[in-house]
Amino acid sequence: MSGLKDAGHLFRFLGLFVIAFLVFWLIRGYVVPKSFGEYGHYRGAAITDIANHPVKFAGHQACEQCHTDIADTKTKGAHAHVNCEACHGALAQHANDPTSMTPVKPDSAVLCARCHTASAAKPKGFPQVDIADHSNGLPCATCHNPHSPVIGSDAKTTDAASATAATGGAK
Ligand code: HEC
Ligand code: HEC
Ligand code: HEC
Ligand code: HEC
Repeated sequence: MSGLKDAGHLFRFLGLFVIAFLVFWLIRGYVVPKSFGEYGHYRGAAITDIANHPVKFAGHQACEQCHTDIADTKTKGAHAHVNCEACHGALAQHANDPTSMTPVKPDSAVLCARCHTASAAKPKGFPQVDIADHSNGLPCATCHNPHSPVIGSDAKTTDAASATAATGGAK
């Protein structure tokens, strides 16, 4: 039994472990959210939190239902697969109630450059232009219809042709 007599320091050490564990358990009880683990290794209530975020995008189908003329033009043009809100921004509020908010028209000089500025990092086949050279400082929509941008593919053709003639042919 002389062995146990010398083991006192081991029990004190064990006691410290037990206290530390209880403190850990107590703090854990306070800081782990109630719904944690309800469905899996995450906070169950996060699902409703996320579902409650306001919807910002309406989706192109909504736009097309009211703006049928633009939808018709767009489906036939080179921007058929560029969605309305990629250019116009999130417009759920407008789509739900058009009178509550009228969207501002995007500034084509800024907008078009975002996708079409020439860059070596872009795939060779993607249409891109040296903006300053190409547009002579004019907004892109002066010559291109944003909803059907290939010149000659829609009603803006005549305007565009004369604008091009006036600048001596852009590109
Ligand atoms: C429920 C019908 C409806 C839906 C859906 C709708 N719009 Fe509209 N939109 C209108 C009406 C009506 C106006 C004219 C409002 C005004 O002049 O105050 C308008 C105006 C606009 C304008 C401004 C036109 C201008 O001449 O300045 C833009 C841009 C626009 N809508 C884009 C969109 C886009 C993009 C979507 C899809 C996210 C969309 N709209 C969805 C009915 C709708
Ligand atoms: C590639 C970008 C782009 C896409 C995609 C696009 N728009 Fe536009 N839209 C513009 C720009 C830029 C203008 C402003 C043109 C101007 O300055 O005259 C505009 C103008 C408008 C206007 C104002 C009326 C007009 O004809 O100028 C409406 C309404 C509109 N867009 C609706 C839509 C809808 C609906 C869609 C999807 C079916 C759509 N747009 C897709 C860039 C875009
Ligand atoms: C969100 C990106 C995006 C924006 C913004 C955008 N475009 Fe485009 N554009 C595209 C894509 C994608 C295509 C189709 C490319 C393809 O067919 O490989 C395209 C095609 C075109 C083409 C046809 C080129 C060809 O020879 O086939 C022209 C011209 C053009 N865009 C001009 C414009 C103009 C002008 C604006 C501004 C009103 C604009 N784009 C805004 C993505 C964009
Ligand atoms: C003065 C008239 C004019 C202006 C302004 C203009 N363009 Fe063009 N753009 C043209 C003509 C003409 C073509 C050649 C015909 C075509 O491909 O549609 C062209 C072709 C393009 C092409 C196709 C290039 C290719 O390799 O197939 C893109 C992309 C383009 N423009 C983007 C823009 C952008 C972005 C702006 C604004 C920064 C702009 N354009 C301003 C007249 C213009």
